[in-house]
Amino acid sequence: ASPAPARISALSFALVDKSRNDQLTVPTGYTARAFYRTGDPIGTPTSPAPAAYSNVGTDAASTYTQRAGDCHDGIEYYGLNDAGTAADYTGGNRRGVLAMNHEYIVSQFLHQQGDRDGAPGSAKTATEADREVALHGVSVVEVMRQTGGAFSATGTWDYNVTSTFNRRITALTRIEMSGPARGNPALITKYSPAGTHTRGTLNNCGSGYTFWGTYLTCEENWAGYFTRNTTTDNANRGGSTAKSVISLNRYGVTGDRYRWGTLAAPDAATMATNAVSDTGNDRFDRWNANLLALDRSLDYANAANTFGWVVEIDPYNPNATPKKRTALGRFAHEAAVMTKPAVGQPLAVYMGDDSRGDYIYKFVSQATWSAADVAPTSLSANRMALGDKYLDSGTLYAARFNADGTGTWLPLTITNPAIVAATNYTFSDQADVLINARLAGDAVGATRMDRPEWGAVNPLNNEIYFTLTENNSSGTTGRRGTTAGSGNVIDAANPRYFSDARSATSTTTAATNTGNPFGHIIRIREDANNPASLSFTWDVYLFGAQADADPTRVNLSGLSTANDFARADGLWFSDATNIAWIQTDDSGAFLDQTNCMMLAALPGSVAERRALTAQAPSTAVSGSTPVGAELAATFAGATVTASTLRRFLVGPRDCEITGVADTPDGRTMFVNVQHPGEDTAAANVVAAAGTAGAGDFNSYWPAAERAPGSTANINGPRPRSATVVITKDDGGQIGL
Ligand code: FEO
Ligand code: CA
Ligand code: CA
Ligand code: CA
Repeated sequence: ASPAPARISALSFALVDKSRNDQLTVPTGYTARAFYRTGDPIGTPTSPAPAAYSNVGTDAASTYTQRAGDCHDGIEYYGLNDAGTAADYTGGNRRGVLAMNHEYIVSQFLHQQGDRDGAPGSAKTATEADREVALHGVSVVEVMRQTGGAFSATGTWDYNVTSTFNRRITALTRIEMSGPARGNPALITKYSPAGTHTRGTLNNCGSGYTFWGTYLTCEENWAGYFTRNTTTDNANRGGSTAKSVISLNRYGVTGDRYRWGTLAAPDAATMATNAVSDTGNDRFDRWNANLLALDRSLDYANAANTFGWVVEIDPYNPNATPKKRTALGRFAHEAAVMTKPAVGQPLAVYMGDDSRGDYIYKFVSQATWSAADVAPTSLSANRMALGDKYLDSGTLYAARFNADGTGTWLPLTITNPAIVAATNYTFSDQADVLINARLAGDAVGATRMDRPEWGAVNPLNNEIYFTLTENNSSGTTGRRGTTAGSGNVIDAANPRYFSDARSATSTTTAATNTGNPFGHIIRIREDANNPASLSFTWDVYLFGAQADADPTRVNLSGLSTANDFARADGLWFSDATNIAWIQTDDSGAFLDQTNCMMLAALPGSVAERRALTAQAPSTAVSGSTPVGAELAATFAGATVTASTLRRFLVGPRDCEITGVADTPDGRTMFVNVQHPGEDTAAANVVAAAGTAGAGDFNSYWPAAERAPGSTANINGPRPRSATVVITKDDGGQIGL
């Protein structure tokens, strides 16, 4: 076992500058190497891996369930012993299993004909849709130090092409519905007349790790995948006041993001079989049409209700059926993280709903923690049964952040008087509350946040962190007002609103500078360190900003060129080093200065901040106008230095850095690079050789990198998402 390190007091690695080059940069003394790229083949002893990925869109669709998915995101590491025959949670430093999400796809790089989403006269083909469906979901893939494809304790990290652990879970995989909503009429579909199963998982964003050794994958922007003609659908459902219409509107189900619904209409015989073999795409395109029959047991009217959940997977058992844990509520799940369990106490799972003005949640288990349940080492242990024990029964809460630095967990229960009395929606039972958790959060008066993304727990003190990535909505959009249409109302927990968040040197337009475009990170300390506490204290740990922005209103954390950033999204603490790792997903606020990045942080604690500033977050920041100098006073003590926040990695162009995990000894780190080159002009991908723009992509990573500063068209291969393995050249722990 790795000894728990003493808390380090300063970061000292060679910091990495902001960069717009098409390359991935880590500090001097570190090595980073991309592997397990989009389309890379995986196999098992009984199902050999397909051929290498062409990366020009010529691979047969049938091979894609044995290829790495696209847009890698949340990731967790599960150790194995050197022989690969037992789970090893503390010594598995040379061999293990990675579970990772494939959030979405960059269609234009996947097909010979590029991206044909909805382009008139160039409809997507069934082959293209089949590839795209398979490139969603989750990978479980064995990784190990190896030489010549065989395990070697001193070899090079790579994935194991042929492994009993290798597995793809896609948008078509059979998944069980578990917990209070299982069997509820709102989950009944043609595929599962009993409401107990669904097919697939979609838009898997952040992740989580359970103390019994399973993987949690979180369904985020699933709402965009379901076809819905709101005029006819609303009418069929009984109009705008019908419960299902209120729900669909609150969750934004308007969909058909990749035009899967425009093709592969099932034949009558297929529809009649009502069987597991029922083809997959029909739930997207037939969903609306089937409403005409108004026979909910034979259609897909409820298909969207089977998405929006936290899904549990046993990475050690490829035969275990994944389960959607409905007790944790349905929303645009970003990630799911737990505080350290204490024997005899319940578990708490913390979760963000990534939408402008949506909520932070926690689930408290009914079962109390037993030390006997920690991380079984037998590969055949029934870890999913432990998930049943801890994640199927309990209470869901939404957070209210008070202006005095305290907070309240508001129970989302059918007996809560605020839910009984709800005027926005009439809840019928607890399953209805969980399926429509957002509406329940509305009813109890939870605090609307600036897009809650990943949570993370500081292993030193059990404090819970959440990135609030941004809120650039202006005027009356974005649900930021206290009442519909009231515009952006700031509050103590979401205190910045600007029309000029950039410095005088800014070259970006005002539109991307409006609101809280650089985001912030908030943290929570449960009263008495009790996971079941109904009250907490909180503060703002960090504000994103450009270093030369106004220090009294904007750059409140005193960021310098060593650590300025925009839009924190990924967030994770290493148990080995206690370093917090912050990853960015910037789609505009800071992209004129730098590609997305990962920073290392030593964040201190809420208690230290309170001692330093002798004040709670101030009521002075509440109000409806952009705040002034009082904000700097309120957050005095929140400043960081290059020793406590330091840029570690900058990715290639158009990428997001998201998802990070390490080996138990902290000496090997895995980081996901998502969608390099995503904003490449679509025409350039399919332009004939020699014509304007042909081969001119924004990124060629990871196969090739542009020379620093060069804008030359190097006609390289199509870019791919990939996992990056990082080691320190002296063999030391990452970040120390
Ligand atoms: Fe998929 Fe909220 O990031
Ligand atoms: Ca994210
Ligand atoms: Ca994001
Ligand atoms: Ca992204």
